[in-house]
Amino acid sequence: MRLDKCLSNLKYGTRTDVKKMIKSKRIKVNNHIVTDPSKYVEPNIDSIFVDQERVRYHQNIVYMMNKPKGYVCANKDKWHKTVFDLLKKDDQRYNLSIAGRLDIDTEGLIILTNNGALVHDIISPNKSVDKIYEVTTELPLDEPKRLLEPMLLLDGKKERYVPKRPNIIRADKNVVVISIQEGKFHQVKRMFEAIGHKVINLKRLAINQLALEETLELGTYRKLTNTEIDKLVSK
Ligand code: URA
Repeated sequence: MRLDKCLSNLKYGTRTDVKKMIKSKRIKVNNHIVTDPSKYVEPNIDSIFVDQERVRYHQNIVYMMNKPKGYVCANKDKWHKTVFDLLKKDDQRYNLSIAGRLDIDTEGLIILTNNGALVHDIISPNKSVDKIYEVTTELPLDEPKRLLEPMLLLDGKKERYVPKRPNIIRADKNVVVISIQEGKFHQVKRMFEAIGHKVINLKRLAINQLALEETLELGTYRKLTNTEIDKLVSK
């Protein structure tokens, strides 16, 4: 790709800013100062420096984060910190998206990636990807099987829908582990509300075959291996 495009993709500035930076001899490619913004570079192969900073460019970034409570899954928020505030400066350069948002008071597994197709595969209702949650309710559930009965909920646009039947993986007093394949607004909380239970803690444990790594501290993240990426969508 063109050098100016590569640097503006990485948020070093607008295309015009970056062109100025190149003209003012601040960029080196393979140890040579470059003054031509249209120079073709292979960002994964060439060594590119902006002043003293080595440019990192990755085609396919997929991170697993252990989202803490108190952070919103949004690019920007007026009042709250966002999960993007938890990223290191270098990682903030990439246009990462969240594959399956969690509420501000939900914790656990989120996937951050620049791979739009992967986001689509994880969140599309047609792809039937399981999202597994540990749900703690205020009071013990005597009849968790009521979650399997048809119910009417409101989505984010206040439109009514009948959620797909969840799968109850484990139910023990006031802690239930369920999997759902959709991801509508407050869906898990509203499913429990529909059977008369208030959720006091919600944690996403896994997406499809990929479990949140237990030793990954709240608020931290790490890159997924290719095998782990496959686990996100494989059947
Ligand atoms: N369901 C909810 O109610 N909240 C979440 O954050 C995720 C699923």
